[in-house]
Amino acid sequence: MADLTPLIAEAQQDFANCHDVTALENAKAKYLGKSGALTEALKGLGKLSAEERPAAGAAINVVKQSVEQALNARRDSILAAEQAKQLASESIDVTLPARAQAAGGLHPVTLTLRRVEELFHSIGFSVANGPEIETDFYNFTALNIPDNHPARAMHDTFYVDNGTDSMEHVLRTHTSPVQVHYMETNTPPLKIIAPGRVYRVDSDATHSPMFHQVEGLWVDEQISFANLKGVVQDFLQKFFERDDLTVRFRPSFFPFTEPSAEMDMSWNGGWLEIGGCGMVHPEVLKHVNIDSEKYRGFAFGLGVERLAMLRYGVNDLRHFFNNDLRFLQQFIK
Ligand code: PHE
Repeated sequence: MADLTPLIAEAQQDFANCHDVTALENAKAKYLGKSGALTEALKGLGKLSAEERPAAGAAINVVKQSVEQALNARRDSILAAEQAKQLASESIDVTLPARAQAAGGLHPVTLTLRRVEELFHSIGFSVANGPEIETDFYNFTALNIPDNHPARAMHDTFYVDNGTDSMEHVLRTHTSPVQVHYMETNTPPLKIIAPGRVYRVDSDATHSPMFHQVEGLWVDEQISFANLKGVVQDFLQKFFERDDLTVRFRPSFFPFTEPSAEMDMSWNGGWLEIGGCGMVHPEVLKHVNIDSEKYRGFAFGLGVERLAMLRYGVNDLRHFFNNDLRFLQQFIK
């Protein structure tokens, strides 16, 4: 029988030339496949005599084992190389900088409200809240604005359709009803601000159907108009960081204050209206069972968007509510 030993080197060479498992399996066929050289040799054993057969069989098996060994070794190295290649292509570079998260920011009106609350808090005012859907009673009647009073028409009210003909519920047209809620459930001395959304049928560059007010209320035994002026002027000076800022009062009318005034503040050599104010009307105190002989108070209402527009130099109120990111992003610190 021919010497099969050279097949080992031949197979090693063939296997070495294979660079993937499919090619290797094809190369294997030549030696170990159904009609491979070693398979044929084993089949040929039958033709040998019984004496020759054991030695010949053993010799074939030695070669077969070596070829199988070479095959397995090559297969292992091909798989290892493939795995290494895959790992390299999928590898994560942990030194890469992280993809940045877009940082959110607070809305300029929120920033303004927070600043207002902080400044009033520092002089002893606490924050009170009330509902945005009000009854006609709280929005008007309890504030000394009776039925058919022209002041109701002044407010361009949104009425809430509750399925009946009654005009019982309104979107509050001002934050003043919070005065009533608060005085109903608390006894003097009272010292609050009430910031929040209010609604009026009105829309242009300086009016939005929804806007914000900050109500102020201070009721005690010795509260005067001088206190009102001091509190408002001190607040505005701090808010705008201008010590030379002054306030001016123009006589006006609100049914729930007496006397009443419009507040203006000095701005670039002129005056800007920033809200209404006055001494709480005795009728309002009477509604909430506060003794108007003993207690007096002042109240004011400031426009929050007005404050924000002046502080940030915004010329159109509608920018605040269009939700244009190019506008809003400018307030992210
Ligand atoms: N509520 C009034 C308004 O919205 C403002 C105001 C508040 C006036 C408190 C006097 C006292 O116009």
